Amino acid sequence: MEKFVIKGNTRLKGEVTISGAKNAAVAILPATLLIKGVCRIDNLPNISDVRIFCEILEELGAKIDWIKENSIKIDTTNIDCTSVPIEMTSKFRASYYLLGALLGRCGSAEVGIPGGCNLGARPIDQHIKGFEALGAKVDVGQGKISAKCKNLKGTSIYMDIVSVGATINIILASVLADGTTTIDNAAKEPHIVDVANFLNSMGADIRGAGTDVIKINGVKELNTSGTYSVVPDQIEAGTFMLAAVASRGDIIIKNCIPEHLDCVTAKILEIGGNVEDLGDSIRVWSNKRPQKATIKTLPYPGFPTDLQPQMGVVLSIADGTSIINESIWESRFQYTNELNKMGATITAQGKTAVFEGVKSLSGSPVYATDLRAGAALIMAGIIASGETHVYNIEYIDRGYEQIEQKFRNLGANIERVSEE
Ligand code: UD1
Repeated sequence: MEKFVIKGNTRLKGEVTISGAKNAAVAILPATLLIKGVCRIDNLPNISDVRIFCEILEELGAKIDWIKENSIKIDTTNIDCTSVPIEMTSKFRASYYLLGALLGRCGSAEVGIPGGCNLGARPIDQHIKGFEALGAKVDVGQGKISAKCKNLKGTSIYMDIVSVGATINIILASVLADGTTTIDNAAKEPHIVDVANFLNSMGADIRGAGTDVIKINGVKELNTSGTYSVVPDQIEAGTFMLAAVASRGDIIIKNCIPEHLDCVTAKILEIGGNVEDLGDSIRVWSNKRPQKATIKTLPYPGFPTDLQPQMGVVLSIADGTSIINESIWESRFQYTNELNKMGATITAQGKTAVFEGVKSLSGSPVYATDLRAGAALIMAGIIASGETHVYNIEYIDRGYEQIEQKFRNLGANIERVSEE
C-alpha cells in the first residue's frame, strides 16, 4: 500500500504543465473502436484509468503501442469480441462508453456494470434511453448490461437530465447509425467537444458539440488513419489554480485553456485571489487569506463538481462562513470529515456543507474518499502545519499524472511512501 507523506506550511511557487484531460481520454479511447484502422493519440495522460482502458481494448482485439510516455498508436482493424469481462469494467466508471462504442461498431455489446468513485447513486438510465431510442434492445441483469441492434437508426433524443456520460455515449452509438440523431438538452463540457472533434477529424459528422443541441449525421465508415491530441485537463488546471490560492502562492499553469476555467477564475477573484490569462497559460497568485464564498456546482459552464473538494479546502481556511451546494452528486462531502480531522470546521448535511473558516489546518492521517477528494487532501497537507499522511492514493493515481512530482516542482515537500 502506498501513501503520500506531506510536510506542510508551503507556499506553492513556480510552473506546472497540465496533462491531457482524463475525462476526454477515457471517451476517446473507446471511440477508436469505431475506426477500422490505425490512429495515433497524443497528449494522453499516463494515469491508471487510461492504462486499464488500454488493457480492455487489447482484450477486445485492438493492438496498442505506447510510442512515447503520452502517445499511443492504436490499431482497431480487428475487433473480435464485444463482451468485456466484468472484473475489468467494475474498476472504473467510464467503462460505460464501451456500450455505445461497441454497439456502434458491432451492433452488440456486453459490459459489466460500471464501477468508479463512490459519489452516491450513479444511474445510467439516460444512456439506456438513448440506445433504445436508436433501436437497440438493452438488458440489465447479473452485474451486466447488454445491448443489441443490427441497424441503429438516427432519431431525436431529449435528455431528461444533463449528463456528460449519456451525451458522449449516444454520440458514440450514433456516429455510424443510419440517418440523423439529435440530442436535446445535451451536456456541454469541454471534453464532449473534444470527443466530437476527435471523431470529426476521423470523418464523422457531428455538429453543435458544446451547445445543448447536438446533431449527428450518421456516416457509413470512418477514416482508417489519423492523429489527434487530447485537450488539456480542465480539472487538473483548476486544481492547481485553487492550490495557488489555498497556499497563498504564485503558480503559472501551462498548457491549459483559460476559457474552460472562467467560472473558477470568477470565484477566485471573488475571494480575493488574482488571475492573469496568458493565452495558453494562467497565472494565479494570492498573498492574503481567502474571503468567504457561496458555491453551487452545476453542469458546464457552471462551477464543476470535480473541483468542489479542492474549493472546499480553500473555503475551510477562508475568512468567514462559506456554503457549498453540491447539485450533481449525492455523496460528495465525505472529504469534509477528513478536513475536520485537520482542524477545519465543516458541517455537511445532504447536498449542502457549511464551512466556518479557520485560520489554519494542522497535519493528520487522512483518507482519500475519491479521486478529487484525494487531490484536495494533498492541497490541505501542503498548507497545513506539521505532517499529513494521505492514504488510499490509488484513487488519485486514477486521474492525476505524476501529481507528487508536479507539486514537488512547485516547492511542496511530498513523498510517495510504500507501507506494509
Ligand atoms: C462525468 C465525469 C465526472 C463528473 C461528472 C459531472 C467522466 C468519466 N466523468 O461523470 O468526473 O463528476 O461527469 O460533471 O467524464 N444521471 C442520471 N442518469 C443517467 C446519467 C446521469 O440520473 O443516465 C445523473 C447522475 O446521477 C448525476 C448527473 O446526472 O447526478 C450527472 O451525471 P453525469 O454527467 O452522467 O456524470 P458522469 O458522466 O458519470
